Amino acid sequence: MTTISISGLRKSFGPNEVLRGLDLEIPPGEFVGLMGPNGAGKSTLLKILGGIYRADAGELRYGEERVASLAERPEVGFIHQDLGLIDDLDIVANLRLGEPPMRILGPLLDARRERKEAREAIERVGLNIAVETQVGELAPGEKALVAVARLLQRGASVLFIDEATSTLPPQDARRLISSLTATAGKGATVVMVSHKLSEILDATQRVVVILDGKIAADARSADLDRDELARMVVARETRGERPRRTRGPGQEEVLRMRAACAGRAGPVDLAVHRAEVVGLTGLAGSGLHDVAYMAAGAVSCRSGEVTVATGVRRAMVPPNRESQGGFADLSTAANMTLSALSDWRRPGRLLNGRAERRDVVEMVERLDVRPPDPEAEFGTLSGGNKQKVIFGRVLFRRPGLYILCEPTRGVDVATRADLYHLIDELREDGAGILVVTSDFEDLFAVCDRISVVESGRPGEFLSVDETTAEQLEAFI
Ligand SMILES: Nc1ncnc2c1ncn2[C@@H]1O[C@H](COP(=O)(O)OP(=O)(O)OP(=O)(O)O)[C@@H](O)[C@H]1O
Ligand SMILES: [Mg+2]
Repeated sequence: MTTISISGLRKSFGPNEVLRGLDLEIPPGEFVGLMGPNGAGKSTLLKILGGIYRADAGELRYGEERVASLAERPEVGFIHQDLGLIDDLDIVANLRLGEPPMRILGPLLDARRERKEAREAIERVGLNIAVETQVGELAPGEKALVAVARLLQRGASVLFIDEATSTLPPQDARRLISSLTATAGKGATVVMVSHKLSEILDATQRVVVILDGKIAADARSADLDRDELARMVVARETRGERPRRTRGPGQEEVLRMRAACAGRAGPVDLAVHRAEVVGLTGLAGSGLHDVAYMAAGAVSCRSGEVTVATGVRRAMVPPNRESQGGFADLSTAANMTLSALSDWRRPGRLLNGRAERRDVVEMVERLDVRPPDPEAEFGTLSGGNKQKVIFGRVLFRRPGLYILCEPTRGVDVATRADLYHLIDELREDGAGILVVTSDFEDLFAVCDRISVVESGRPGEFLSVDETTAEQLEAFI
């Protein structure tokens, strides 16, 4: 059992000073929640500890020993946001990745024992799936659990976990967290990054907040309530009180789906009206996101139809920003404007670079993208800031129909409030909005009607005013 001590840690990327002398001590056996706004340096800290980045200055101690990183310690495990699993291999192979094969004798492999141990490992994290399943077929929540199972199976007793719950529906998130809590209960140290207040309050013993490159707050979780914690992590003014809704949804349909089928979804019947926000949720694997792709016209349906009101543009925030969201090598500006370039064309087809630039600067400010530099490379942005840039792109299209998948995924507490505010404004302006999300807070914050997608089709639509989170969960 070893204490981790970090002192005076510094890290800059070019002129961007991210960590500015960070001090933190983590005693063994503690479950620590790590919070802070998007771009604060949480992932950077974990990457330094994991040996992916090298600190510019500062000291890291593992017990008495001074070390450059914790990467070489077999008992220390990391789950970075991409999880590091291989989709084309089954669960057994993923769990054994990098380990020598088990042998009975000499060259005889003991596949039976590997399977048995794999089964035990995933059962320990509450997963009940055949271990021969290809990891690529698993839902994100199940993948996250496999990643945790892998760490535990290797006997990791110090775990660092970067936003593994950000795409998980409540049940999966709880499953993952309870397996972490159980591990911590047996003496393991767990450091978990999350933007979800309730998760941090429920699971952790201590909350540490990074702001301006240093630890700005450090408190016992039990001493905090939700509001106090929110105040600790919100580093700036939000857009304040949300506007009251002055009107109900319009009569006019902007989107109509009739018995539409594609991928795992269908037959889907649903309508989104002008000035209406319709929410869909469901477990991963339910075909939830396929409904969104159909609505956005990103896939065509094999049967049934999807119609959009004449003259209405649609735009989508895709569910997975890492693989579908943006162009890593292009700038923030290019990523924002690439699907609306014609808006900045002058007669004669020349691009009006100055107007484009001005609009981008305005959008960066409106969404509080950090760093506020239109030329920053998209691939280097923090998770939440990537999400904001993709939102900017969607806004630039000025659509009449928005399809927003996991709109608040990975964004910090203040930005979440801002995005809700923004969705209210879009609705007020008359847009139709389809929110497809695993985050119940999104549903209750912005939607008029909600439904649970199961086996590819939405069930009954419920008015949010007459629904509680518990009722909704019972449907899933
Ligand atoms: N490889 C890199 N090159 C340049 N800048 C980088 C690189 N990695 C991170 N940064 C910058 O470092 C800052 C901190 O990023 P980091 O990913 O640590 O934030 P975070 O606290 O994890 O935020 P989030 O909550 O959005 O995930 C950001 O301003 C980001 O743009
Ligand atoms: Mg991060």
